[in-house]
Amino acid sequence: MSQLPEPLYQSLMSLLGESRLLTDPSSLEHYGRDWTRFAAPAPSAVVLPETVAEVQGIVRLAREHGTAIVPSGGRTGLSGGAMASKGELVIALDRMNSITEVNTINRSLTCGAGTITATIQQAASDVGLCYPVDFASSGSSQIGGNIATNAGGIQVIRYGMTRNWVSGLKVVTGTGELLELNNGLMKNNTGLDLRHLMIGSEGILGIIVEATLQLTAPPKDPQVIVLGLPDMSAIMSVLQAFQSKIDLLAYEFFSELALAKVVEHQGLQRPFSEVTPFYALLEFEHAGPDIDDHIMAVVEHCMTEGWVVDAVLSQSVAQAKGLWRLREDISETLSRWTPYKNDISTTIAKVPQFLSEVDAIVARHYPDLEVVWYGHIGDGNLHLNILKPDDVSVDEFQVRCKTVSKAIFEAIASLGGSISAEHGVGLLKKDFLGYSRSEAEVALMRGIKALFDPDNIMNPGKVFDS
Ligand code: MLT
Ligand code: ZN
Repeated sequence: MSQLPEPLYQSLMSLLGESRLLTDPSSLEHYGRDWTRFAAPAPSAVVLPETVAEVQGIVRLAREHGTAIVPSGGRTGLSGGAMASKGELVIALDRMNSITEVNTINRSLTCGAGTITATIQQAASDVGLCYPVDFASSGSSQIGGNIATNAGGIQVIRYGMTRNWVSGLKVVTGTGELLELNNGLMKNNTGLDLRHLMIGSEGILGIIVEATLQLTAPPKDPQVIVLGLPDMSAIMSVLQAFQSKIDLLAYEFFSELALAKVVEHQGLQRPFSEVTPFYALLEFEHAGPDIDDHIMAVVEHCMTEGWVVDAVLSQSVAQAKGLWRLREDISETLSRWTPYKNDISTTIAKVPQFLSEVDAIVARHYPDLEVVWYGHIGDGNLHLNILKPDDVSVDEFQVRCKTVSKAIFEAIASLGGSISAEHGVGLLKKDFLGYSRSEAEVALMRGIKALFDPDNIMNPGKVFDS
């Protein structure tokens, strides 16, 4: 295992003390990886700063010694952005987790980057407001990581991505300088908005240490409906039928294989007895007394058209939560097969063509493998997970899937889509960045990184090689 240079180790020890400079094997393993399982964690040390000044001190010391840094939040990422497998110094934000202000006049909340997403959601709810970016990993993901990856989730169709909710950021750059960006302002047209450059930058420009988030009114009594669909082409017809009548909070889909795995491994009930190739999960507000009749009329229309075979509408908060688990538990359920994850998108109008092209590629290249379809299809975002057979090694499996990815990415590029809709580029997608971004764009990105991080110590080797 690689070690920190001794003078750096001593300086960090005097800055942080023994309890906040970790080098034991289990801490290195814990903090050195995210939810991906394609590389072994091998950082040289983990530091746990408690203040912005400490983060600045650590970055300056690392820079002096030419040591690479990996910023670390809840490590729930799926592209390897928080992996430290080359002797890097991990800066874990866990202890910078205080909510310093909840302001009901500004409808904002300010907190340390290590604050857990669910804690923020609860604090907003305690004052009758809502932080609406939500996903299955809200209980362990940290806001700094959400911002660094511009996390999406299950209600993007209504609320957009994390980017839409960040009104202020404090960031320590690769030189140790502290930038205070936008100060929670709603209106601030004073040149380039560096805040937006930081959002989604995956730690390659600096470390987010504090965030101010905007809050909104919570949705009114959300209800969930799960529909059984006879084929893939019904997915977008159903979306259009509902969207012509109501505003949706979520429009998710999953395949029968996804449902079967979740039912078997999480001990959940099927939504209804009918088994259909695909399912759509819709969430909407209980907007008025006639909403159930309204919804059932759309369902009947979809059934008449042959787009829907069966349906269940939640009658209580508990039932709505139970139906959500059928979708939200998919990722965790599949993790036991070390899935190769595709997180791809097109514009919504191109989804039917996108699905049929991807389907043809999958049928051609993976006839022998289990392929699980799910995702935020109302946003144009598909998660295509290929499950690794037990008798195939991780390396062999990855090589095969990467080859097929090329075919998928070519199709996506020709549709003007994205090879990583919400999981980021990290390590796993960087070889494919050229399918979504031009050479000129990547060259500009490299130049921007060099301005914020002249010695290339901030999460080097992630997103692109410098
Ligand atoms: C999800 O939509 O469940 C998450 O993005 C995680 C995943 O894709 O596995
Ligand atoms: Zn997702």
